[in-house]
Parts: sequence; structure tokens; C-alpha cells
Amino acid sequence: MDDAQAFYKELERNHLVALWNVSANLLPKEPRGRAIPYLWRWDTLLPLVRRGGELAPLSRGAERRVLGFINPGLPTRYGATHTLWAGFQYLLPREVAPAHRHSPAAIRFIIQGDGAFTTVDGDKCVMSRGDLVLTPPWTWHDHGNESDEPMIWLDGLDLPLVAEMEATFYEPFPKDAQRVERPVGDSERRYGLGQLRPTWERSVGPFSPLLNYKWAPTEEALRRLATGSASPYDDVAMEYINPHTGGPLMPTIACWIQLIRRGLRTRAHRHTGSAVYLVFEGRGQSVIDGQRFDWQRGDLFVVPTWAWHEHASADGAEAILFSVHDTPVMQALGLFREQAYPDHDGHQPVSRVFEG
Ligand SMILES: [Fe+2]
Ligand SMILES: [Fe+2]
Repeated sequence: MDDAQAFYKELERNHLVALWNVSANLLPKEPRGRAIPYLWRWDTLLPLVRRGGELAPLSRGAERRVLGFINPGLPTRYGATHTLWAGFQYLLPREVAPAHRHSPAAIRFIIQGDGAFTTVDGDKCVMSRGDLVLTPPWTWHDHGNESDEPMIWLDGLDLPLVAEMEATFYEPFPKDAQRVERPVGDSERRYGLGQLRPTWERSVGPFSPLLNYKWAPTEEALRRLATGSASPYDDVAMEYINPHTGGPLMPTIACWIQLIRRGLRTRAHRHTGSAVYLVFEGRGQSVIDGQRFDWQRGDLFVVPTWAWHEHASADGAEAILFSVHDTPVMQALGLFREQAYPDHDGHQPVSRVFEG
């Protein structure tokens, strides 16, 4: 063994590293994420979700019937992207998913069904298709289904990010369900119109006090905006906001609702921050890093950090996408960066088509 080899061995033994040997890994020219662009099809998901309903009863210890999306580039990280967990949750009629709380933040976007609820710190939020319900960090929450139909919703959480920060806490509630201590839909009563808020209420934390963003006003806002010009990269995209601040819903999670108008194709861009997209209505396609993903209602796809992406609705059809983003983290830490695709009028050449 020569001197240099002996030196590096000794460094290893002492838990040291020579920066000059690893600096290319530590400081790549640009982000090199391991998460890959991917898509899961509704036609594949729905039968699996239903089978989960037959096989897996809810109980303490198995409190949520959720199929989580695992990014194939991150098989051990339990996330759809490196920062975001996404899953389809399934709740049968008369079932209760027992109350608990945790430091990771969660959102739910209702895909199918009408008449289940989530109680968040004693506030019962009734859920219908297209509603967005928040369970901010460390709020008690249980789900129940008082309807005669199974409910399916998208869960979005910052689980992988909070795990990486080593800040995960969890606590079960002493009973399955919380008592509803306030009028049903209390946060909607106080904040639901969006343009007004009670003068005496103060922000109680860095998250939105509105816990249920109902579909009807959301769709109306989208439609009103669809009559004019919009983002070249996202078309008619709107962010759900915290009525106290006008900022994102939670420090780690932003949610968008987005209309891609009939036959429209956006330009490509890329930015730091990853996102999970649910196709709420319609069909179309996205090109992500040169790969084309054709999607339709119920499909879910991910755009990893710093990946070029552009979206298009199918000819003759509009599309509505709901999405969850980690951009508030990037912005808060001064790491947000965005770049327009420079060539071909802002469109990527398509080198392959995703088959799944
Ligand atoms: Fe939870
Ligand atoms: Fe984007």
C-alpha cells in the first residue's frame, strides 16, 4: 500500500473524508434527483383500491386504508417524490378511520364520493368530489363515511421531507372519533368566502385556518379566469391560499388547481421543487424531460425537481389538474429557481412515450 492509499484508509477509519475526492458529488452543476417522472393509471389503480377494501379492515395500528405511490427511482424512500407522499385513501360506508395526529402536514383532495367527513380539531369538514381538506401539522383528525358509497381521495403529505428532517412525531387519540365541538364546517363559516375574514381572529400558526376548500367556488374562480390570458407554462393555474397571508396553505405544501383550456399546449420550463398531479377532469398529455405521458381522468403523475415539463389538453377537450407542490420549502430556504425551455419555441422534442 502506498502512502496515499494508507492515508485514505486512515481517514476512513477516523470517519473523515477528503473533500477533494468527493466534491463533484457534493456540488453537482445542477440538481441530480433520483426521483423519476412517472404515471399511475386510474384503470390500474381502481381495482387495487377496491381489493384493499376487501382485504384490509381498519383498526388501531392499521388506521388508514391507503395505497401509497412509490417513485420507482426512490424505492426505499416511501414517497411519490423525494419530499412528497401521495396515496389513494379508500373508506367504505359506515367506516371510521381512527383519530390521530402527527407533525407531518396533510391535504386530501376528494376524487370520488360524497358525504364522508374529516374532523379536524373538532371541526367536521364534509367532503364531496373536488373538495380540498387540510389537516395541518399536529391537528387531531379522524375520517368517517356516513354515505352509502365508498369514498376515494388523494392524500398528500410532506412525510419524506419531515422524515429527512428527523422531526416526525405521532400520537393516537384516546377514542376512535373526536367529539364535534363546533358547528359543522366551522372554518368554512368563518373563512369560506375567501375575500373576507373575521376581524378578531388571529393566525394561530403557519398554516391556513380554512380547512375545507369547497369545489364550487374553486371551479368558479377557475372559470372566471379562463376568459383571459394566463400562464404560458401552466395555463389557468391558481394556488389555494391561506386567507391570513395570501401565501401557501402550509410551510411545506402548496396546492394548485389548474385548467388547461381546450386544445391548449403550454411551453416547457423547469424549476426546483417537485410536484404530484392528479387528473381531475378531461384528458391530455405532459412532456417531462422529453418523455410523453398521456393521461386521463383519475391518473396521477409526478414531475421531479428540475425536470423540463409542459402540459397539453387533448384536442377538443379541456383538462383540470389538481397538484401538490413542495415549492414553499424551496422559496423559504432561498432555493427556488426557474428556467424557461430555450429552444423550439419552448417545446421539447419527444424522444419516447411512457408505457407504464
Ligand atoms: Fe393522519
Ligand atoms: Fe412547473
